[in-house]
Amino acid sequence: MIRFSEKLLHWYDQKTRGPMPWRGEKDLYRVWLSEVMLQQTQVETVIPYYQRWLQQYPTVKAVAKASQDDILKSWEGLGYYARARNFHAACQQVEKEHGGKIPETPEEFSKLKGIGSYTLAAVQSIALNRPLPAIDGNVKRVVARLKRMKEAPSKALLAIETFLKSTISHDRPGDFNQAMMDLGATICKSTVAKCDRCPVKKFCGAFKCREVHLYPVLEEKPFKPHYKIAVGIVWKGERVLITKRKAHGLLGGLWEFPGGKIKEGETAKHCAKREVKEEVGVMVQPLSSVGTIKHVYTHFSIEMEGILCRYVRGQPKTLDCADWKWINFSNISSYAFPKANHKLFPLIPKIPNGPKISPKEPINRKVAKAC
Ligand code: ADE
Repeated sequence: MIRFSEKLLHWYDQKTRGPMPWRGEKDLYRVWLSEVMLQQTQVETVIPYYQRWLQQYPTVKAVAKASQDDILKSWEGLGYYARARNFHAACQQVEKEHGGKIPETPEEFSKLKGIGSYTLAAVQSIALNRPLPAIDGNVKRVVARLKRMKEAPSKALLAIETFLKSTISHDRPGDFNQAMMDLGATICKSTVAKCDRCPVKKFCGAFKCREVHLYPVLEEKPFKPHYKIAVGIVWKGERVLITKRKAHGLLGGLWEFPGGKIKEGETAKHCAKREVKEEVGVMVQPLSSVGTIKHVYTHFSIEMEGILCRYVRGQPKTLDCADWKWINFSNISSYAFPKANHKLFPLIPKIPNGPKISPKEPINRKVAKAC
């Protein structure tokens, strides 16, 4: 009987999926970069980022030498910014601790910042032919159906890994892993599985029992909170105040307009004034709203209202931010901002000498749609 992995690899060799610039690549730096970018992000989104990145940073050394601001700017829009911060730190580790050569053994490679079990297995299998199964969301779904797993994938990781270890091709482990990912992304999809086109359906327990729709068993959905946020767009003459988020946590190291969560019973204007004072120690007069945007993150969603403010007094200080700057609005694209802030940009009136707006005249109260 033809083995599962042979069938799968035969299908993979037909190259039914479009070209990907990292396919066939064995260079450790390039494979590592592609796998970091591909986590939680679709192939089509990653391709232009990957190509631009390699022009800007062709080597580990180039990444290590870059500032965190430049790294985050190059990553802007890809999301999950901890990946970029960790990749930057890991390249600096390679320079400092390994003389610029990426360590090849799984033990040493896994000590680099940000290398978890997925990245370790994907990079080691693709670049170095080590038979380690790479388990991402697509692969979990495929195995859950093949084996009719009675538990949600997050609870069945050991069983998934055991199955993959027993089937992974030892000749072509990197291709095997990528074939499993491709199968999940293009055939064994979460909503509509295209079983008629599946190269391994004869190995699939769920297909044989006509139960594909029952697998994988659903994960418990965590509650997704919704926050209302107000930010101050603070003008001083021709310049606007931006602050940098602290280095760690969600969106760490990115620039933003200072602001925060609106408290119970608080107005957006009051919130913007209070948050600007708390974050950067600057007293402002809130004038008017530029509008409200919505944005959905993985674990929560927000509504963010931009409040035009006039600078009153105070030298900015890093009270609850990592840095601050007064910038010309025309230079805003030099700084990496979260997507939610980007949605506010078009709502901000371009006023060369600061906002000469009467507080009684609301301007441009457009509400941008959620993404
Ligand atoms: N997702 C993560 N890594 C991938 C790869 N190498 N090819 C396709 N999809 C992926």
